[in-house]
Amino acid sequence: MDLGLRGKHAIVTGSSLGIGKAIAWELAREGANVAIVARTKAPLEATARELAADTGQRILPLVADVTSKVQVDAVVDQAAAQFGGLHILVNSGSPPGGSATATGPIETVVDEDLLHDFNVKYVGALRCARAALPHMKVQRWGRIINISGTNARNAGNLSGGARNTSLVHLTKTLALQAGPFGITVNCIHPGITRTERTPRLLAARAAELRIAPEEVERRDYAEDSPRGNAIGRMVDAAEIAYLAVFLASDKAWAVTGELVVATGGAGRAVYY
Ligand SMILES: NC(=O)c1ccc[n+]([C@@H]2O[C@H](COP(=O)([O-])OP(=O)(O)OC[C@H]3O[C@@H](n4cnc5c(N)ncnc54)[C@H](OP(=O)(O)O)[C@@H]3O)[C@@H](O)[C@H]2O)c1
Repeated sequence: MDLGLRGKHAIVTGSSLGIGKAIAWELAREGANVAIVARTKAPLEATARELAADTGQRILPLVADVTSKVQVDAVVDQAAAQFGGLHILVNSGSPPGGSATATGPIETVVDEDLLHDFNVKYVGALRCARAALPHMKVQRWGRIINISGTNARNAGNLSGGARNTSLVHLTKTLALQAGPFGITVNCIHPGITRTERTPRLLAARAAELRIAPEEVERRDYAEDSPRGNAIGRMVDAAEIAYLAVFLASDKAWAVTGELVVATGGAGRAVYY
C-alpha cells in the first residue's frame, strides 16, 4: 500500500529519542521530510544526522521547548518555510510519567510541578497544533497525531494520567474544528514502550529482584501479570511509529478524532 507520504513535510516534537524519534524515522523512510524538535541540541543533531544518513530525506533539527509559545511558533514557521509547507505534526514532546512530586498522594502534590506537567504535554500539544494549523489549512491537507498514554485509563496518577486524558479531549475538539479544512487529528495511547531508557529501567528492577533483566520482562508481560498484555512482550517504539505513520498517511481519511490504543493488548476491560 502506498501511504502517499513521499514529498510530504512533517514536524515531530520530542524526537531526539524515544517514541518521537521512532516516528520521525518511519515518516522519513516513507519519503517525508521531517523537522525534529527537542530542547537539547547535541542529541537532536546526532539524531538528525542518523536519520538523514539512513533515509536520504531532509531532516531538520530545531531546538525548542514546547512550553514556550515564542519558540514553538518560531520552529513551526521555520520548518514550513524551509520545506515549503507543512502537512504533518506529531506531538511527542514530553518526558513520560509526570513529575515525581505531582504523581503521588494528593497531600504531596506540588502545584507548580503539576502545572508544569500539563504545560508540557497538554498545552505543549495545543501550542504546536495552533502554530501548525494555518500552514495545513492553506494546503487543505493536514494530519495531527498526539502521543498520549494508557495511564489515562488507570486511576492513580494525578499528573501523568490526567494530562493524558486531557490530550484525548483536545484531539476530538481539534478534529471537529479542523476537519472542514482537510485535516485529521488523532491520538495514540502507548502502554509501556521499549525506548532507549528501557535497558536501564529493566536492569534496575532486575537488580532489585535479583533476577536477569530478560526474566523481569518475561514475568511482567505474562498476560496474567498486572503489567501484562496479550502478546506477552513489551511493544517497541517502532511499532508505535508504524501506527502513527498510517494515521499520518493519505489512506487514513476515515479516522479522525479517535483514540487508538497500542499496548499489545493490555488489560481485560472491553471498550465499545
Ligand atoms: N515510553 C513509554 O513507555 C510511554 C508510554 C506511554 C506514553 N508515553 C508518552 O510518549 C511521549 C514520549 O515518551 P518517550 O518515552 O518517547 O520519552 P523520552 O524517551 O524521554 O523522549 C522525550 C523526548 O521529548 C523531548 N522533550 C521533553 N520535554 C520537552 C519539552 N518541554 N519541549 C520539547 N521537547 C521535549 C526530549 O528531549 P529534550 O529532553 O532534549 O527536550 C525527547 O526528545 C510522552 O508524552 C510519554 O508520556 C511513553
